[in-house]
Amino acid sequence: MADEVVVIEGDGIGREVVPAAVEVLEAFDIDFEFVEAEAGDAVKEATGEALPTETYETVADADATLFGAAGETAADVILPLRDAVDSFVNVRPAKAYPGVDALRPETDVVFLRENTEGVYAGHEDRLSEDLSTLTRVVTASASRELAEYACEFVGDGRGPDGRDGFTVAHKSNVMRETDGRFRREVLAVAEERGVDADEELMDAFATKLPLDPSQYGVVVCPNLAGDVLSDLAAGLVGGLGLLPSANVGHENGLFEPVHGTAPDIAGEGIANPTAAVLSAAMLLEHLGHVEEGGRVRTAVESVLSDGPRTGDLGGDATTEEVTAAIVDRL
Ligand code: NAI
Ligand code: MG
Repeated sequence: MADEVVVIEGDGIGREVVPAAVEVLEAFDIDFEFVEAEAGDAVKEATGEALPTETYETVADADATLFGAAGETAADVILPLRDAVDSFVNVRPAKAYPGVDALRPETDVVFLRENTEGVYAGHEDRLSEDLSTLTRVVTASASRELAEYACEFVGDGRGPDGRDGFTVAHKSNVMRETDGRFRREVLAVAEERGVDADEELMDAFATKLPLDPSQYGVVVCPNLAGDVLSDLAAGLVGGLGLLPSANVGHENGLFEPVHGTAPDIAGEGIANPTAAVLSAAMLLEHLGHVEEGGRVRTAVESVLSDGPRTGDLGGDATTEEVTAAIVDRL
């Protein structure tokens, strides 16, 4: 049976980089059924809804979704889409590639970010003119599920350089109850599974990562910490145009570049398709096409190293030229 893949371009450069990623997927002899759906600012303007119910349902029923970016409505789109695919972990690799000017060329780190709770669980209140509060949610079940995924991830040799352990970043010295629970459960699962796990306080980690990224491979984090620390790592590897991500659910998954709509360059045909193409590689692997996913990575690495390159990487190639070069190297 064909794998049903929903394609949501969204706004801005999403309309340029998602077609590039689809072109790469189409280069393989795999039976995909692509279904187009809408989300973001443009559809909100037209219909009043940034994420139409029809899109939510199509995504929930599919095997996987490739998403570009949404503009001002990003939060109204992404949070429900992560819910639609029942995602419990956000996988964010940050790798520096030969040929790309990176602040820290030795960086090769994969963040596994808890994707359902923490401070993003949405329990915010305004209690008075002076006082607003936020309730932070941490469950043993979500922490354990994330840790189990991390153990499988390193066990399958998917960590950078095949590393077989992971680091858990937390702040349990201050958030003793919530991060205390997160830390305890994650380390307990690692011990049960016989996986090496060490730990860092997340603020110390934020200092140590840029000083010496080679110390780290797979990093397991609560939701907000994973968001911030993976963006920090993005800065070390040479920019947003390179970073893919996967919102992994139990069966379904949502794959998207980390970057946004890039309004400053949208419509010019010069966006870097790398992040979207690498997101498509993660989609391939999620659907069991591991060898094909690896071939996409190798082709992307070859193009990054030899060119052509888009403007954000110091080149003058268009999105289409870079995409054609990637497809050519497949
Ligand atoms: P952004 O990622 O869109 O752009 C930041 C900078 O990086 C810009 O200079 C842009 O030109 C550059 N850039 C990003 N991706 C690039 C690519 N593929 N090739 C070349 N250059 C690239 O972030 P910004 O400016 O903070 O947000 C713009 C809009 O995107 C906002 O409306 C924001 O809400 C939305 N956004 C949506 C996200 C999503 O849908 N997942 C994530 C982040 C932002
Ligand atoms: Mg972010």
